[in-house]
This record gives sequence, C-alpha cells and structure tokens, in this order.
Amino acid sequence: MTALTFLALAGLAAADYTSQFGGAIPAGLCAPNTAGFTNPTIQPSRGGAAICVSGDVAVQASAQNVKFNFNIPANESEVTDTFLKYITSGSTFAQSIMGGMQTISGNYTIGATLCMPANGTIPSSVQLLTHGIGFDRYYWDFAPGYSYVDYAVEQGYATFSYDRLGVGKSATPDPIQVVQGPLEASIANQLALSLRNSAFANANFSTVIGVGHSFGSAITQSVTHNHPSTFDAAILTGFSGNQTAIAAFVTALNLQIASQNQPYRFSGLNNGYLVDYSAVSNQYGFFRSPNFDPAILAAGEAAKGTVTFGELFTQAAIAGVASNFTGPVAIVNGDADLPFCFGNCSYPMNLAQAAVTMLYPAASATGNYLAPLTGHGVNLHYTALDAYKYIGSFLKQNRY
Ligand SMILES: *[C@@H]1O[C@H](CO)[C@@H](O)[C@H](O)[C@H]1NC(C)=O
Ligand SMILES: *[C@@H]1O[C@H](CO)[C@@H](O)[C@H](O)[C@H]1NC(C)=O
Ligand SMILES: *[C@@H]1O[C@H](CO)[C@@H](O)[C@H](O)[C@H]1NC(C)=O
Ligand SMILES: *[C@@H]1O[C@H](CO)[C@@H](O)[C@H](O)[C@H]1NC(C)=O
Ligand SMILES: *[C@@H]1O[C@H](CO)[C@@H](O)[C@H](O)[C@H]1NC(C)=O
Ligand SMILES: *[C@@H]1O[C@H](CO)[C@@H](O)[C@H](O)[C@H]1NC(C)=O
Ligand SMILES: *[C@@H]1O[C@H](CO)[C@@H](O)[C@H](O)[C@H]1NC(C)=O
Repeated sequence: MTALTFLALAGLAAADYTSQFGGAIPAGLCAPNTAGFTNPTIQPSRGGAAICVSGDVAVQASAQNVKFNFNIPANESEVTDTFLKYITSGSTFAQSIMGGMQTISGNYTIGATLCMPANGTIPSSVQLLTHGIGFDRYYWDFAPGYSYVDYAVEQGYATFSYDRLGVGKSATPDPIQVVQGPLEASIANQLALSLRNSAFANANFSTVIGVGHSFGSAITQSVTHNHPSTFDAAILTGFSGNQTAIAAFVTALNLQIASQNQPYRFSGLNNGYLVDYSAVSNQYGFFRSPNFDPAILAAGEAAKGTVTFGELFTQAAIAGVASNFTGPVAIVNGDADLPFCFGNCSYPMNLAQAAVTMLYPAASATGNYLAPLTGHGVNLHYTALDAYKYIGSFLKQNRY
C-alpha cells in the first residue's frame, strides 16, 4: 500500500515538474564528468533544477569506535527489550555494554550523488550533505518542491550527498562494532578532503561546506571538532546540545528489525539493522501536523532508511566543543523538533542559539533559525524553503 502511494506520488510530482523526474537528460544540459564514481549514472535531481552523477565511491577511513559487549539480538522481542533497558530510569545498561575503545578501519563503498548546475558551470564551492537517522541521501532531494539540492545548486553551489555507512547503497558491515558515529565522522571527513582534492568529476572545489541533518549534524559537528580545517563553514539542521528527548524519540520510532518490517527492501540485513515501525512512528519522530503533505509522510515511510544499534549507542558521544573551528556556523531547526528540543526549541531558552554558542566559541559568525510549526524532518515540511533561504543568506552574508 505505501509503496503504491510512493509511486503515485512520484508520478504526480513528475507531472507537476515537466518530465524530468528520473528521466533522460534533456538536450542542451551539460552532464557532470563521472570521474571518481564506479557504476556511474547521470540523471536530473528529483527537484529538476540540477544535473547529477550518482554511483559508488570508495572511502578509506579509520576511527576509534566503542567496543560494545552486546550481541546482535536473536529476535524482535530482544530488540524491544534492549530499548526498554536503554531508556529505563537509573539503568546501568549503557555502562554495562561499554568495553573500551577499538580501532576500526577499512575501505568502504559509499553510495553518493554529486549535483551541479545544468548549464555546465563548475562551482568553486561544494556542500557535503550528511543525512540523519530514518532517511538516505534523498532526504536532501526528496521530491520536486522539497529539494535542498535544487536550492543550493540554484544559489551556485555543487552538492555532494551520500548514504551514510549502513544505509541505502552504501556498505552494510557489522551494525554493532563498525557502523558507529566515530567511523562515520571519519568517512565524512575523508569525503570532504576528497572533494577539495579533485577526486570527483575532476572538479576542483576550493570551498567545502558541511551540512547535516540530525545524526548527520552530529557527524558534521564531530568533523569540525576533530578536524577544524576540513570545512570552511557548517550548517547543522535538526540539532542542539540538549539530549533530554532522545529517549522519547527512540521510543516514538518504535524500532523494528528492518528485514522483518520491509523484507522486500532489507531481507539481506541482519537483526542489528532497524527501521521505524510505521507511518505513525515516522510522524511522531519527524513531522508536525498540519504543516506537511500526508503524501510526503507516506513517501518518507516507503523510502525510510535503516539505523544500527552501534549508531544509536554512540550518537550522543561524537559531538564536542569545536574550540578551533573558526568558520561560520548556523543551527537550523523546526521549532517543534522532538529529539533535540522535546517539541519546543524555545524552551527553556532558544536551544539552537544555546548550542551554537556553546559548541563554537571561536566561530567567525554564529546564527540560528527556527522554522515555524515544523518538526524534526525540516526538509519535508511546507516551511522547508524558508529554512533553505535562511541557510543561503547566512552563507552569503559570511562570504560563502
Ligand atoms: C527471543 O530470543 C531469546 C534468546 O534467544 C529467547 O529466549 C526468546 O524465547 C525469543 N523470544 C521469542 C518471542 O521468540
Ligand atoms: C578501495 O576499494 C576500491 C574499490 O574496490 C579500490 O579501487 C581501491 O583500490 C581500494 N583502495 C585501497 C587503498 O585499498
Ligand atoms: C549556471 O547556473 C548556476 C546555477 O543557477 C549559476 O549560478 C551560474 O551563474 C550559471 N552560469 C552561467 C555561465 O550562466
Ligand atoms: C585547484 O585550483 C587552484 C586555483 O586555481 C589551484 O591553485 C590548485 O592547484 C588546484 N588544485 C588541483 C588539485 O587541481
Ligand atoms: C586546538 O588547538 C590547540 C593548539 O593547536 C590544541 O592544543 C588543542 O588541543 C586544540 N583543541 C581541540 C579541541 O582540538
Ligand atoms: C533541555 O531541555 C529540557 C526540556 O526538554 C529542559 O528541561 C532542560 O533544562 C534543558 N537543558 C539545557 C541544559 O538546556
Ligand atoms: C514554548 O516555550 C515557550 C517558552 O516557555 C512558550 O512561550 C511557548 O508557548 C512554548 N510553545 C509551545 C508550542 O508550547
């Protein structure tokens, strides 16, 4: 049922927006060079305003991950019980599974998409887009009218979006010991360095801006903390320094073993890979009514991305005060964000402003924006364009 809804939506969207949705490249458009990608394909952005190359890229990465004394659950009952232990008051579960640190390194296949203006101009600035839990790289280019990629490309940037390790077309290694925040931050850092070093499309980007959503913002923040010269500027969406509501968020998602929830998409994944249970769970975590189109919620649910135990256990641990990051940074949230604001980013203070001030003492500029009547999945609300316009003007004001 939900898959049909998604197809119907895609069809409608295409009708609304010329005939470019996933189709052939219209005459006169300049396709990006495919250097750096294996199995490359060229297609317009879903939004229609950019031309993109998608494929696999290889990323060498290494990090100090947490060694967890925790086995992949045998069944759904164990998964649910794990989360009950995780959120229980006074519980020592989190400490009990900590087994120190261990170095994890490898050469990982990452599914990625580089988008450029359709007129053949190669921008000097690229935005590295890291999605959050529950989505994949298409969070940034979800549908016509819901495309951050289109907005950024129209503003003269290139965008590089990718599926986080464990998600979509990227590799799906051990979900407890390998797919964790520290390694994912190392992958983001390597991708940013590769963009500067002309590794993709022969494009020589002199400016690299880190843009994240949710867990993708925590990853972007971690890069500014550990590698302060990697990004020229950072935009953290769906983020704050307040973790009070994470337990409520994880509970609301009602996480289920991915291969049981959507076997037609996830049958190859083991029980350490999870997804939100239903469209109801998805709305709890990411949407605020009535400021979204129900067809977009249905499409988000049909296309939802996985999350691993390793990510959930390490998501809070990777951020840190980026005392040596000197670029501009803004935090952009839905004002009714659940996981990072418990539904109210103005209570007990402006939590976006508090976080950017606390985490970036040396930033050249800080900013914040709260999109009205908007939940955690900012890009999927009617207010998405307002948030994009804030980001665009913040970057331009600060010379990027
Ligand atoms: C789930 O797995 C555990 C451990 O193997 C087992 O004790 C339990 O009976 C199983 N529960 C169900 C509902 O299958
Ligand atoms: C990483 O993997 C890619 C693709 O399999 C391969 O082309 C590349 O040589 C590998 N790099 C290293 C350093 O092993
Ligand atoms: C090409 O398109 C981009 C994005 O709309 C724009 O910034 C740029 O100025 C255009 N270049 C030319 C030569 O028209
Ligand atoms: C990128 O362009 C800059 C400025 O033109 C130049 O200094 C630099 O060497 C180029 N780097 C690469 C890897 O081509
Ligand atoms: C910031 O830079 C100083 C001087 O290079 C260094 O001692 C310090 O450890 C750095 N701080 C962080 C958080 O990386
Ligand atoms: C975090 O948010 C909660 C409300 O969700 C609030 O009670 C608490 O004071 C906040 N903590 C900080 C440090 O902002
Ligand atoms: C959020 O908290 C602020 C400050 O306490 C309050 O003025 C506002 O009404 C709250 N918003 C909602 C939607 O409850």
